[in-house]
Amino acid sequence: MCGIVAYIGTKEASPILLNGLKRLEYRGYDSAGCSILDNNEIKYLKKKGRVEELEKELKKNPLKGKLGISHTRWATHGAPNTVNAHPHFDCQKELFLVHNGIIENYTVLKKWLLKKGHFFRSDTDTEIVVHLIEEHYQGDLLNAVQKALLLVEGTYGLGVISKHEPNILIGARKGSPLAVGVVQNGEYILASDPSAIIEHTKKVIYLDDNEIVSLTRDGMKITTLDNVEVKKEAQDIQLDLNQIEKAGFDHFMLKEIFEQPQSIKNAMRGRTLVNEGRIQLGGLQDWLDFLVKVDSVVFLACGTSWHAGLIGEYLFEHLAHLPTETEYASEFRYKNIPINKNTAYFVISQSGETADTLESLHKIKQAGGNVFGIVNVVGSTIARETDAGIYLHAGPEIGVASTKAFTSQVTVLAQLAVLLGIKRGQIKPKEVKSRLQAIIDIPEKVEHILNQNRQIKELAKKYAQFNNFLYLGRGYNFPTALEGALKLKEISYIHAEGYPAAEMKHGPIALIDRQMPVVVIATDTEDVIYQKVISNIEEVRARGGNIIVIATQGNKDIRNLATEVIYVPKTNGFLTPLLNVIPLQLLAYHMAVLRGCDVDKPRNLAKSVTVE
Ligand code: G6P
Repeated sequence: MCGIVAYIGTKEASPILLNGLKRLEYRGYDSAGCSILDNNEIKYLKKKGRVEELEKELKKNPLKGKLGISHTRWATHGAPNTVNAHPHFDCQKELFLVHNGIIENYTVLKKWLLKKGHFFRSDTDTEIVVHLIEEHYQGDLLNAVQKALLLVEGTYGLGVISKHEPNILIGARKGSPLAVGVVQNGEYILASDPSAIIEHTKKVIYLDDNEIVSLTRDGMKITTLDNVEVKKEAQDIQLDLNQIEKAGFDHFMLKEIFEQPQSIKNAMRGRTLVNEGRIQLGGLQDWLDFLVKVDSVVFLACGTSWHAGLIGEYLFEHLAHLPTETEYASEFRYKNIPINKNTAYFVISQSGETADTLESLHKIKQAGGNVFGIVNVVGSTIARETDAGIYLHAGPEIGVASTKAFTSQVTVLAQLAVLLGIKRGQIKPKEVKSRLQAIIDIPEKVEHILNQNRQIKELAKKYAQFNNFLYLGRGYNFPTALEGALKLKEISYIHAEGYPAAEMKHGPIALIDRQMPVVVIATDTEDVIYQKVISNIEEVRARGGNIIVIATQGNKDIRNLATEVIYVPKTNGFLTPLLNVIPLQLLAYHMAVLRGCDVDKPRNLAKSVTVE
């Protein structure tokens, strides 16, 4: 949700800023802008739209200088136009600021600043902060930023420069991520995430909430808002450049779909030990006794991660016989519900930065509950603030629509459910090996489905012009149906709904006609509910609907009922979502491409939602 890149050092700033913004574009792409200081003057450029618009403008009107700030925006307050684009500046155009987050008390502060004679050019909450700094500026930028931020309520990751202090770049963080890349002493890159830094250095310092960093060509200093110095060591970024490039694929999303055999393997490497007949989850080892004895489990997440949580709920109930709830983090954080010390709370997040998920974590911790993380981004806020957890090791996910993170989340949840099932005596010793082997076999089966990419693309051609879809599934595959529908709507803008198949009769069946294709997941042929799903397919057929079925290889009968069949390999029931979601991802991808949509940057969405 908005990306920040800033630079101070000995090189020209603008290529470093532009490159960094391109890496952070997944965080928002409503507008982009930069300010660069040269010869005691700060010049700026802002453009509505993508970073490439800013790049074109910079080619025509280059900005020189070795100190600068830049921003790619996901609009919250104020329309996505040039005036509201960052950087924002004070009355005299001497102080420039970029911001990611939301200033909650901006109305009160704006009134106060207007009375003091400040005037505002944009509709943003951000502009308040730069005027607050101006109000407190008495020749010491760090001091002015500290004083201003003491008055601010809300969240921020920000970068500030002043024309009066050509040797200082200030960064500050509360609730929105910010990292300092240390290129060498006196040369730094400040950015919302390390992907904007990695090309220049692997040494990075993550700021914590309420910390301010002042970066100069003589060195760096981190303080609190009350000016108490904080000592921090640089860490090595665990990321390499080709992980964040497209590697010959047309889109990051497609690359990430095709990475799944590997990313799923990474989520089980050293964890599912078939020969030893056990599962080992190092990150939760110290908490295992607690987890085995808990009364209940609650999963908290947003978006696709919430769908993974829903599958987790089925897994934990089925395999470990543990009462489990999955809540939207955005709802949970405002609920008046008791936090139970005998409940294990799991926050699930790819980015580890989603604001509502993070706030749920805070709520539980404040009430004395135990919170565990299932997170992809190493060193992210959620990863650092949870009591313990499991990393996905899926590598960077850049496509806004989550794919590989989802399958890694489900892989981790499946392993945890089996581990707890074994320890709680719910999985019999003689069943253990076959369950573990089924987990290990998944990547190869995913590979097999990916080999059908061309057929799925052909299918997409037949259906890309429809404007409404219904996705049905039951049990483990009800959340898979939700995820399939979400993938389609977020990248192709086709209206799609996911439903538990049996609920269709209670409403959606009224919508079914030739214009509304129905995607049905019907893979668990041995499960009691399989026959019920077949009845649901019959009900759709009777109303003339086109039916695309995801079925298990070898199920020939299904051809008599379905308009189209996509076959997936057979696996153990609890792992079926990991296979069934793959054709749904590919279907959504191809339909979106055929409709001319920008799949990596779908309209109005952002990858990391760091605001409420
Ligand atoms: C955004 C993204 C989704 C993601 C959700 C939760 O909406 O577009 O792909 O599932 O946030 O993000 P998280 O990083 O917490 O998993």
